[in-house]
Amino acid sequence: MGIKQRLLRSMSLGPITGLRARIVLLMALLTTLMVVLFGFVVIRLLEHHLIQQKRAQGRSILLAMQAHFDLWEDVREHSAGRTTLPPLTMFVQEMAYNLELSSLVIVDEKQNVIGHSRSALLGFVLSEPELARAIQERKLLHRTIGAETDKPEMLFYGPLYQRGKILGGVRFSLPLDDLYAALAGTRRILMLYALMDALVIVLFGSLFLWWALVRPVEAMSAATERMVAGDYRVSLRHRGEDEIGRLSRALHKLATTLQDRDAVNRRQLEKLAKTNLELQQAHDQLLHSDRLAYVGRMAAGVAHEVGNPLGAIYGYLEILHDAESGRESSEIIRRLETEISRIDKIMKELLDFSRLRDEKPDQVDLLRAAGEAVELMRGQRGLDKVRVTIEPAAAPPTVELNSQQFKQTLLNILLNAADAMNGQGAIRIDAERRAFDKSELMEARLPGAPPEEAVPFTDLQARGIVFSDGIGPGPGAPTVHFSITDDGPGMAPEVLGQIFQPFFTTKPPGKGTGLGLAVCHRLVSALGGIIRVESRPGVGTRVTLIYPAVETDGEHE
Ligand SMILES: Nc1ncnc2c1ncn2[C@@H]1O[C@H](COP(=O)(O)OP(=O)(O)O)[C@@H](O)[C@H]1O
Ligand SMILES: [Mg+2]
Repeated sequence: MGIKQRLLRSMSLGPITGLRARIVLLMALLTTLMVVLFGFVVIRLLEHHLIQQKRAQGRSILLAMQAHFDLWEDVREHSAGRTTLPPLTMFVQEMAYNLELSSLVIVDEKQNVIGHSRSALLGFVLSEPELARAIQERKLLHRTIGAETDKPEMLFYGPLYQRGKILGGVRFSLPLDDLYAALAGTRRILMLYALMDALVIVLFGSLFLWWALVRPVEAMSAATERMVAGDYRVSLRHRGEDEIGRLSRALHKLATTLQDRDAVNRRQLEKLAKTNLELQQAHDQLLHSDRLAYVGRMAAGVAHEVGNPLGAIYGYLEILHDAESGRESSEIIRRLETEISRIDKIMKELLDFSRLRDEKPDQVDLLRAAGEAVELMRGQRGLDKVRVTIEPAAAPPTVELNSQQFKQTLLNILLNAADAMNGQGAIRIDAERRAFDKSELMEARLPGAPPEEAVPFTDLQARGIVFSDGIGPGPGAPTVHFSITDDGPGMAPEVLGQIFQPFFTTKPPGKGTGLGLAVCHRLVSALGGIIRVESRPGVGTRVTLIYPAVETDGEHE
């Protein structure tokens, strides 16, 4: 994720229910509240201070007024009789103007107005109790009026005296709008400050929370969800020493533990599945060998009963053939002979199948025997275009068997491959010695095996694998794996499942007997071996003959 994207993500508040959104909102709310409280105190203090200042101003104005008044009294005394009151009014108006007073009234001891910034009120009595008190107690009093209006002012009442003798009093007012404007300005600035504070907290707080809390928590919750779904390969990178770091590490440890256990479980399950499969096969094999034995006995009987009369018919036909040579009927006799020889061939194969002629076994190098068989096969029906390659082996794959029987087995398999490839293609023969491991045989080797999700591991046939029955070599026993691989059309699973059945064939009548692989099966089983066939449509077929190997020096235990 790019820095920009992260920032964008961290800025978005997401649903209000999100942990981060709630914390940030709370923080913003608290800060705003704090700033507002703080602002209230500041405004109060400022107001108090400004009012003090106004009072000081009022006091100086009173002092100035007293000084002027003294001066005016002096002038009046010196020019008694000639001067009348108007000059005082003029003095008052001048004074109000110079000191920027809203109003100024001067009264005598009886509170008669003797000077006024608005002359119309001259001669009236200004009967305000504060003024009387100020004159009596000889001190400056003040009060605020019109605080709610747009023309607030502070009223001052003070005494006027000359040489210790009270002459009267004065009432003047100072406008307060400047003070209120200052307070309002301060209030505005404080509000702005609160707003900016909240904004900064929301932005940086949310960024920090995302980094320190939300991101690791999100990573952990994603990891937990994956674990719930059965995927334990989680990596949590939070390394801090704080609670989140500890939690993260604990979760990581849990994941690895679960992963280990899961692996163990999987291995055990796999083992179980394999054992189960082997059991199933053993069961099938028992059934199959039973059937084979029955077919074998029957075949022996049929071959014996049909074989003898067939020999006789063959003999009579030969005599007839000689007698009728040159006539029209000799062609019919020739055809009869062909048909009879075909029946004879089936009979021979049946006999092969039913009784394994007990010829002497020998220590045979299978690859050398295969070379001889292939040499023999060359030039046979439609085999000329099939390329057969024999791969050399690291150690001679020596097996104790009858080489004639082995060659018959190999020939059956090679002819099947040639038939499948329509006489055109490549066949590869290879052999190797390996310790026997039955579960190894269950693993698909040809390319294009379906994945385990599509076909379960235990469904061997669907995965293109079949084994012959028979007990086979013991686990770990030395064996020779002799494989014949063709790149022909391969077999569908339904066909593959039946190839060892006697008389099973997909070839037209007269072409296949369906006995080839059944015979191979019997020959290999008789030696304690196994045939494994793996075939995939469009890929090819691999037939593997697994024989107990002749032990070499290195393998003695
Ligand atoms: N290499 C192969 N490629 C494709 N199909 C094969 C191969 N080998 C055997 N088969 C199939 O197995 C069947 C049985 O073979 P087999 O027992 O030898 O009898 P037959 O060859 O007389 O039909 C064949 O008919 C064929 O369908
Ligand atoms: Mg065949």
